[in-house]
Amino acid sequence: MNFENIEEIAQYLVADGKGFLAADESTPTIGKRFDAINTESTETSRRDYRELLFRAKGMKDNISGVILFDETLRQSAADDTPLKEVISSTGALPGIKVDKGVTPINDTEEVLTGGLEGLEDRCLEYETLGAKFTKWRAVIKIGSGLPSNECIKGNMQVLSDYAKIVQEHNMVPIVEPEVLMDGNHSAETCYDVTSRCLDSLFKNLEAKGVNIKGTILKPNMVLAGQSSISQLSHDEVADLTMKCLKENVPAELPGIAFLSGGQSDLDATANLDALNKKGGNPWKLTFSYGRALQQAALKAWMGDKVNTQSAQDAFSHRAEMNKLAALGQWDMQLEG
Ligand code: G3H
Repeated sequence: MNFENIEEIAQYLVADGKGFLAADESTPTIGKRFDAINTESTETSRRDYRELLFRAKGMKDNISGVILFDETLRQSAADDTPLKEVISSTGALPGIKVDKGVTPINDTEEVLTGGLEGLEDRCLEYETLGAKFTKWRAVIKIGSGLPSNECIKGNMQVLSDYAKIVQEHNMVPIVEPEVLMDGNHSAETCYDVTSRCLDSLFKNLEAKGVNIKGTILKPNMVLAGQSSISQLSHDEVADLTMKCLKENVPAELPGIAFLSGGQSDLDATANLDALNKKGGNPWKLTFSYGRALQQAALKAWMGDKVNTQSAQDAFSHRAEMNKLAALGQWDMQLEG
């Protein structure tokens, strides 16, 4: 696929009814996912699992981009085809997570994402390796007196520096300010914190001269904390999320691809569908799910080759359901 510029790449990535497969779990994180299915995490088992996903029939027509971890971008399938080519053959673009994870801010429980050092060089290489887009995740915790302004400001500045560097290397930056679901906070608190983050993020992106038309936002939805007893309906999540986005996100941004963040598979799909059924928004609203696309597949696979087909079917089903949600055409009855 040939693109004239990053704006064309961004448009391709948020084409109607398509979204991202986030398969960029770091080695420790995929290790935890494999522990849960009693599977040893080795270079080969990680390759086998990811190859299974990339070769599933549900990739085609539903997935526009796959976010990879460094190891996977360099790996080849069992038949020696580079995994990035397996991905491209489905019509999806390979992308790469470029942040280097988080470190505590001044010995507090808040964290700052790092990885700007050497980013220029990594981008040069990733561009050569065929990555068309990148991802950087900032992590914001809600708690007593948290998040601090320092945490929001620091993370949004770094996200903007990252986006600028990536665009200079002809790749689309996905900017991900994730407000965590952990805790018993209300949805209103999540709304306030998400607003503070998005306001700061877009001010910083503008100040750094980042091309918004060549950028994709990957935010959390506005939800009550996971342990709150007052959970919102899908329609209420959609209302509050849309209000927050409309107040803080410029209309020229091509698309918003939500993270799932620990929501159940069905909630992540139903909430995205409710958002798209609202309509009246200037951006494409789609998915960039890790867990909500992979949980069912991992459980079906259990690290055993004989389960490849059922794992692929489980992944394909979620990909198709989320495609429908990205079009506002999902219905619970389609879940079967
Ligand atoms: O950075 C987070 C992942 O790309 C998305 O993962 O959908 O499981 O939150 P998640």
